[in-house]
Amino acid sequence: MDYNYILLTDSRFISYAVSELRELLGLEGRIKTMALGKGVYLAKLDALPESASERLRNATFSYGVVPVMEISEKMQTDDELVESVSHFLSKDETFRVEVVSLGAKRGESAKSAEVKIGQALESKGFKASLTEPKRVVYIIVGEGIVVTASDKSERLPDITLDHFRLENRSHDSLNRAEIKIKEAFESFGLSGKKLERCLDVGASPGGWTNFLVKRGARVVAIDRGVLEYGKLATADFNVITDLKDYSDRHTVLHIRANISDEADLPFAPDSFDLVAVDTNTDYMESSRIANLLSRYLRHGGFLIMTLKLPKISDAGRIHTVKELLAKEYKVERVKKLHHNRMELTLFATRL
Ligand SMILES: C[S@@+](CC[C@H](N)C(=O)[O-])C[C@H]1O[C@@H](n2cnc3c(N)ncnc32)[C@H](O)[C@@H]1O
Repeated sequence: MDYNYILLTDSRFISYAVSELRELLGLEGRIKTMALGKGVYLAKLDALPESASERLRNATFSYGVVPVMEISEKMQTDDELVESVSHFLSKDETFRVEVVSLGAKRGESAKSAEVKIGQALESKGFKASLTEPKRVVYIIVGEGIVVTASDKSERLPDITLDHFRLENRSHDSLNRAEIKIKEAFESFGLSGKKLERCLDVGASPGGWTNFLVKRGARVVAIDRGVLEYGKLATADFNVITDLKDYSDRHTVLHIRANISDEADLPFAPDSFDLVAVDTNTDYMESSRIANLLSRYLRHGGFLIMTLKLPKISDAGRIHTVKELLAKEYKVERVKKLHHNRMELTLFATRL
């Protein structure tokens, strides 16, 4: 029997998201999807196994799968939405409502609908919590369709529907790349880790380096291109072009050269806690660079690397990358992060 779910993914990778659902959840029936708007699909699936949310945490292409509570093929007023939500919400659990409008006009902004619906539910005796709700309610307004979906927050992925509104908005970042590495840290559980010395390859114009510096790291940045030195969160930086001038005294040392082979590199073995590779090279070359640098990364240290995908079909090459890295690293996750465009982000631990 088919059930309706909301599938959140990047529209460019929808076919990969569907095959991945099938694989991760062991689904055999047909998976029919209908786009409600950018990145949000209505999907008909078999009933999901109990462990679905746990297994989906390792998904590369889907951000989440949320059970649908109601589908209405006409626009609904706020009062009608409150009525329908109050049927499945319980007064024992706190809730948060997120409204997303995918191109459809409802005469008010999604944000203000969200506030009004939340307040109306509170006046009926339900308890709202914006920061730690036990249940999240998604109201998705598409062209001629309103879908209400909901699940307990512990079963939902870290990235909620709200991220569709927040995309690319961060005021204290040097560039968009800095938002990417911030999201990688959050997604891969690195936020609380102490990472003192980091090697950032493909560092220009400096977003990743800046993020690492703000977290208290000392960074060796490698790139033939310049960094935006004036925007870095430290004044203690040095720029060298000749490797014989290498020293590890500065908060940021920028080596203005591109990495080609290991013979060039002046680092002591095991001297970094994190190696970051964001070179605009294909996945073969990026993997080669990661392998070249592995001996400078301490055992148990981390690799974060973007895999550029010149074509969507390159997304099918994840297995090749895992094989290329297998001698030096344990690949923990490969994820299409929200702020990745035509690329995936790989997270691995040094063996
Ligand atoms: C997408 S940009 C990196 C953005 C950067 N991570 C940031 O946070 O601002 C890609 C960079 O990779 C660099 N690059 C390409 N091949 C490289 C190599 N072999 N060694 C070092 N840098 C390389 C390019 O010069 C380019 O500046």
